[in-house]
Amino acid sequence: MSKEKVGILLVGLNGATANTTVAGSLALKRGLNDNCEGMITETEIFSHMRLALFDQFVFGGWDVNPRDAYQAACFNKVLDPWLIEELRQDLETVRPWKAVVTAHDVDSSREAGNIIEAHSLQEGLNTLKQCILSFKARYAVDNVIVVYLASPLKHIELSDIHNDLSMFRKAITNNDESVSSAMLYALAAIETGCAFVDFTPNVTLKVPAIIQLAAEKKVPLAGRDGNTGQTLIKTVLGQMFRIRNLKLQGWYSTNILGNNDGLVLSMPEHRKIKMEDKLGVLEPVLGYNHFSHIVDIHYYPPRGDNKEAWESIDFSGWLGMPMSAKINWLGRDSILASPLIIDLVRLLEFALRRGDYGIQPQLAIYFKHPLNTSARGFFDQYTLLKNYYSEIEEPVPVPHKNRLIKESMTLDV
Ligand SMILES: NC(=O)c1ccc[n+]([C@@H]2O[C@H](COP(=O)([O-])OP(=O)(O)OC[C@H]3O[C@@H](n4cnc5c(N)ncnc54)[C@H](O)[C@@H]3O)[C@@H](O)[C@H]2O)c1
Repeated sequence: MSKEKVGILLVGLNGATANTTVAGSLALKRGLNDNCEGMITETEIFSHMRLALFDQFVFGGWDVNPRDAYQAACFNKVLDPWLIEELRQDLETVRPWKAVVTAHDVDSSREAGNIIEAHSLQEGLNTLKQCILSFKARYAVDNVIVVYLASPLKHIELSDIHNDLSMFRKAITNNDESVSSAMLYALAAIETGCAFVDFTPNVTLKVPAIIQLAAEKKVPLAGRDGNTGQTLIKTVLGQMFRIRNLKLQGWYSTNILGNNDGLVLSMPEHRKIKMEDKLGVLEPVLGYNHFSHIVDIHYYPPRGDNKEAWESIDFSGWLGMPMSAKINWLGRDSILASPLIIDLVRLLEFALRRGDYGIQPQLAIYFKHPLNTSARGFFDQYTLLKNYYSEIEEPVPVPHKNRLIKESMTLDV
């Protein structure tokens, strides 16, 4: 594989996950840290593949908030202050482009100030495409992956206008209120030949017109809603209960979360879509739905990005005897999510090079609500991933151990 640059455009560039992805990549490239734990692409199943390296990455993106990446890192408080100071000069050069906002976004986003002053949806879409094309020209990058990491949107009812590409385009011309900002980002990405990942619970990749466009433009897609913590445990234990023929009676989950995502999820109209994904995970894994399932999310500022979740699980076994399990998960939201973003970028960049397009179902393991696959349990998803990539032949194997670090000494963000 050539050492061409790979463009990574993050929607929600200043958010905790996107900002940690940028700063963490910088730290790894500069050798300030050499720990790639949490990245599945750094495990042996990918050791025969030549995936993009950190020194090829060029970052950009959009945010409603005009902070540069240094200010964002200080605000997000995910990484150690000494590391943020060490990266300051590089981070200060990463600034978001103006964002597109529709009525589905968080109401206060317009007040943040970094908004495209478009008079129509079409004008907003054209501006997004222009950003991508200028970025490609400036850095001479062909392969660009757009990752959607903005806040979960308010509920959107899919209708006839989403079913067909020509009707969807007409809806954009008519400024139809069922077209969301997230759909415009996806369209801009696909129309300019970029791969697109939706790491959020939005319905963007459920829109048939968007899937149709991706097939026409031959670009790969992946989604939806990153599987990083509580739901990850459910996909693992749910499949264990099924395999061991233990019967789930009930699962009570509660979360305390103090980052900006926690604040957004404290708003009922933005929490709705997230809850659908969180509550929808157990039934397809277990194959039945007669159990109690409760999920609470509470915004609790002292926790910041360091989420805490409690699981109280009731199940029964032989002779119907009841048992229970308790789990206390203390995960760091962005530290769990960011390596998955890098994995997805590397695997979609590989798909772009191979000419694979449409939803990539082998990436189910990364998502709470994986699309185009029946693999909903963790072990099935891992088998899917492993079988898919182990069959891929690469001409020249590269050594696995620390290959990201040793070969990546420069950075061009
Ligand atoms: N971190 C995880 O473990 C995880 C797991 C699954 C899903 N997610 C989802 O990923 C997304 C990012 O999470 P986060 O913790 O970084 O959230 P965050 O709130 O820190 O970041 C969201 C960013 O999006 C920006 N934004 C809002 N509307 C925008 C728009 N229209 N255009 C461009 N930018 C916009 C905000 O200003 C903010 O900087 C959320 O939707 C979250 O629910 C995160």
